[in-house]
Amino acid sequence: MCGIIGYVGEKKAVPIILEGLKQLEYRGYDSAGIGIVHKPRSKKGAEDKNKIFVLKRKGRVANLSGLLKNKHFPNGLAIGHTRWATHGEPSSGNAHPHQDCSGRIAVVHNGIIENYQELKKELEKEGYQFKSRTDSEVIPNLISKFYKEGDLKKAVAKAIKKLKGAYALGIICSEQPEKLFAVRNDSPLIIGLGKGENFIASDASAILKHTKRVIYLGDKQIAVLEKGNVNIFDLEDKQVSQKIDILSGDISKAQKRGFKDFMLKEIYEQPAILSKILSQWVSSDGNIRFKHLGLNDNFLKGIKQIIIVACGTAFHAGLVGKYVIESLTRIPVWVDVASEFRYRKPIIKEETLIIAISQSGETADTLSAVREAKKNKGRVICICNVLGSSLTRESEGVIYTYAGPEISVASTKAYTAQLMTIYLFALYLASLKGKISGEEFKKGVSSLQKVAAMQNKILSQNKEIKKIARRHLHFGAFLYLGRGVNFPTALEGALKLKELSYIPAEGYAAGEMKHGPIALIDEYRAVVCIINSSPVYSKMLSNIQEIIARKGKIIAIANKGDEQIQNYLKEVIFIPKIEPLFSPLLTIIPLQLLAYYVAILKKYDVDKPRNLAKSVTVE
Ligand code: F6R
Repeated sequence: MCGIIGYVGEKKAVPIILEGLKQLEYRGYDSAGIGIVHKPRSKKGAEDKNKIFVLKRKGRVANLSGLLKNKHFPNGLAIGHTRWATHGEPSSGNAHPHQDCSGRIAVVHNGIIENYQELKKELEKEGYQFKSRTDSEVIPNLISKFYKEGDLKKAVAKAIKKLKGAYALGIICSEQPEKLFAVRNDSPLIIGLGKGENFIASDASAILKHTKRVIYLGDKQIAVLEKGNVNIFDLEDKQVSQKIDILSGDISKAQKRGFKDFMLKEIYEQPAILSKILSQWVSSDGNIRFKHLGLNDNFLKGIKQIIIVACGTAFHAGLVGKYVIESLTRIPVWVDVASEFRYRKPIIKEETLIIAISQSGETADTLSAVREAKKNKGRVICICNVLGSSLTRESEGVIYTYAGPEISVASTKAYTAQLMTIYLFALYLASLKGKISGEEFKKGVSSLQKVAAMQNKILSQNKEIKKIARRHLHFGAFLYLGRGVNFPTALEGALKLKELSYIPAEGYAAGEMKHGPIALIDEYRAVVCIINSSPVYSKMLSNIQEIIARKGKIIAIANKGDEQIQNYLKEVIFIPKIEPLFSPLLTIIPLQLLAYYVAILKKYDVDKPRNLAKSVTVE
């Protein structure tokens, strides 16, 4: 949550910061601000001392840009922030940067300071005054307290020793107009190295346009950036060596390419992404090979248990993974919400494999779960979309999902990319352990190769799905039901609808309906039922009849050629038939479109739904 950026260099800092903030806006968008070191001219024309100018606005980065329109700041040192509120409501006052009482120091912060109340009390006793309701405001004041000695780096180090929690900080000081300071602990921060300029940012998207040479700052390291050099120190003021990485990727990929919004573009990208994943991991001889798996075959053959940890949509992909991996490999799989795993003293044995799934690779709960697993000697691999993200660096092995930048806050293409990766991993493991025959392996891969074309067929029914969305807009609540491997699809469909259109929606395993949710059903309830051809088809059909008997309004996802379902229902979205195990790659597509159109017809911002942020970097 929250995006931070900083610039020191020969160019004007303000446009670079604003542009970077636009790229980071997916991390939070309830307010934005900028802090600039600037030497104002006095009326007589004589130059005055450097000052920090802070401008902040509630709402999107565009509002902040408006505020800066007719202002002239030629300087090359500034920090910026786009916020997702944790402590203190979204408002200009709570927006970052925050300054110390004297106004000499300004800080942008991504993370949460857990002991801020205690620190605030101490500082207040010493006469420091606070203007905001944030946890972050203690940071500039704490630095200011130690800055009395005149060395900002030392003051930052002393302040850091007092902070508990997660933070990535950009710091400027009016008395050090050539320097940008940065420090992090658990929250992401990269340093971009340019020519005559250097950058800090929460992630690469904000600086990729300017440089591909980056340093991943380590926890509790302090970076001092000047236009011509970057130096990194530990908290004891010892210089730390720097490892420079070269980023791959192209910012131009993050464009809408004629689509109305990123979400629709990303939904439509799915078939191409799945084909790309297959070409990446399935070699010309038909075998599956993962490049960065990091685990040897002996370990893989000996796995007795798999634990999947993830959050939100990635967790739903993990739930599909349980069905798929257990069915193909016969290895028991547990799937845990990362924030629960982290605190429940998990049992990890020697032959346990932990798989962390994350689009961003920066989700704080998932990272904490991985750290907890590693503390217990767990072997961890991740399925991740963002190259070089914290998760990929902290895991022993990685399977990249190659979905490209996912900009829309609601995850779509990353989800199906995660599913495709899980299918390939399950087939690979099953074959390695001798649990499936060569024929079964080939059949599995060949089914996966058919998915892209099938998804395209579903996408071509967009107009029909939009009409269904229009007919169901007014429903005050939705229930999503699925069975087996499509129970997670029901959860994911419900999540998409609620996060985009703010309509309460719940996903259930259809067999559970009789155990409670059936009480909700009446003529005002829309019920989305996934009834693809599978061994539980008849059970699902019984559920549908029970809903009809109670006047629930059903939208069904069924297979093309299913005549039986047409005897019962009017609203059916037909999708191509595939082996039931692989059906989640198809059944989710109409549900993504349904949620998308409901939100669009309600005139909501589908790319940036309220209260959300793309990367949840706080626990
Ligand atoms: C929902 C959504 C979230 C994320 C979750 C995990 O549409 O996008 O539920 O799936 O915050 O994020 P990652 O995958 O980045 O760890």
